[in-house]
Amino acid sequence: MVLDPLALEDAVTLPTYAKPPVALVRGEGTHVWDHEGREYLDFYGGHCVALLGHCPPRVVEAIREQAGEMLFYSNAVYSPVRAEAAQALVDLAPDGLGRAFWCNSGTEANETALKLARSVTGRNRVVAFSEGFHGRTLGSLAATYGDTYHAPYRDVLPETTWVPFGWEGAVEDALAGEDVAALILEPMQSMAGITEARPEFYRAIREICDRTGTVLIFDEVQTGVGRTGTFLYGEHVGVTPDLVSLAKSLGAGVPVGAVLVNDAIAATVKAGDQGTTFGGGMLAMAAVKATLAQLVDDDLMARAVALFARLGDGLAEVDGVTEVRGRGCLIGVSLDRPAKPVAGALREAGVIVGTSGRADTLRLMPPLTTPDADVDDFLGRFADVLNA
Ligand SMILES: Cc1ncc(COP(=O)(O)O)c(C=O)c1O
Repeated sequence: MVLDPLALEDAVTLPTYAKPPVALVRGEGTHVWDHEGREYLDFYGGHCVALLGHCPPRVVEAIREQAGEMLFYSNAVYSPVRAEAAQALVDLAPDGLGRAFWCNSGTEANETALKLARSVTGRNRVVAFSEGFHGRTLGSLAATYGDTYHAPYRDVLPETTWVPFGWEGAVEDALAGEDVAALILEPMQSMAGITEARPEFYRAIREICDRTGTVLIFDEVQTGVGRTGTFLYGEHVGVTPDLVSLAKSLGAGVPVGAVLVNDAIAATVKAGDQGTTFGGGMLAMAAVKATLAQLVDDDLMARAVALFARLGDGLAEVDGVTEVRGRGCLIGVSLDRPAKPVAGALREAGVIVGTSGRADTLRLMPPLTTPDADVDDFLGRFADVLNA
C-alpha cells in the first residue's frame, strides 16, 4: 500500500504549520513538481531561499563533490572550504564588515548578533521595530513583533522596546538613555508586506547609534545575498551596520546562516565566546562558495534589478493590483481584495506565491535566475486568476 504523504506527515509531525495540500518531490529552476506529477511555477522559492532556482547545477555539483570528500567536521579544526567561503562572503560585503561567524539559520544569526551586541556594550536592552520578524528562538523571538508570538513565553523573554518603522524621532527617544545594546531591524520589512523607509531614516539611525554607543544590526535574512539588487540592502542607502544577519539565500537551499561582524566588534571576541557544532560544516560551506561564485559570475544582482522592472511593469497593468513594492526579487503586491484566496487560486492554476502579515498583500520571491519567459508566463496566469 502506498501511503498518502500528506496524511502520513500530518500523523507524525507537530501541527505547527498550516500547509496547503501539496507534497513537493522535485524542483528545477523556477519549477517544482508534486508527488502526483503536477508542475508549478514557483515564485515563492521555499520562503525566499531558492536564490538560484531549484537544484542549481553549479551548487548541486559542488555539494556532490564535497559530500564525496568530507561531509562534516566541526570548528574544532580548520577547513579550506570554510576559509574560502568566508573569504568570498567578506569580499562581497562592504568595507569594515571583515569577519564572518557561521551558523545554521536566520534565528541563530540574530541570536548571535544580539549576544555580540550585549557583550560588547555591557548593556541588555534591545530596541526593535513594529511589524518586524527576526525568528523564533527566545533571543530573536524577543525582538520579533507581535503578541501572538510572545504570549506563552513573556516571562522569559529579554526586554524589547518597539518603535514604529521609519520614524527616526522614536529611535532618538528610545536610545536617548544610552542604555540600549542593540537596534535591530529588517531594512526592508518582509512579513509586514514589503515596506521600506526613506533613505534618510537609515542614515539617521546610523548616526543615532554611533552617538549613543548602540550596536546597529541589520537582519538581512531575506534582503541579503544580492536579492534586492545589491549584496546587502544597506548599500542602497549608503549605510553600513555594525552586524548583519544572513541565512535563507546564502546556501541556495542548503541550511546555513552567518553574521557579518565589523572590525571593532570582531576585535573584542575571543575563543569560547560563541559556538555551534554544525555552523561552518563543509557541505554548507561548499554550497555557500558555489552560490556566491554564481551570483558574481552570472551578474545576478543586475538580473534582480531587471526582473523587478519586468515584473513590476507587468503587474502594474493587471486589474486588481493596487501597488507593487520592493526591490529586485523581493516584491510585495497589494491587491484590491484579500490576498489569501488569490494565493489559493494561483496554486490551483499552477503558481506558488507567498502571503504576508498584510491581508491584502502577496509576496513574490522568485529566483534571480528566472528567465523572461517564466516572468511572462507568471504575469499571464496572474492576470487570468485576478480576472476570473
Ligand atoms: C527577516 C527574517 N529574520 C529571521 C528569520 C528567521 O530565520 P530562520 O527561519 O532561518 O530561523 C526569518 C524567517 O523567515 C526572516 O524572514
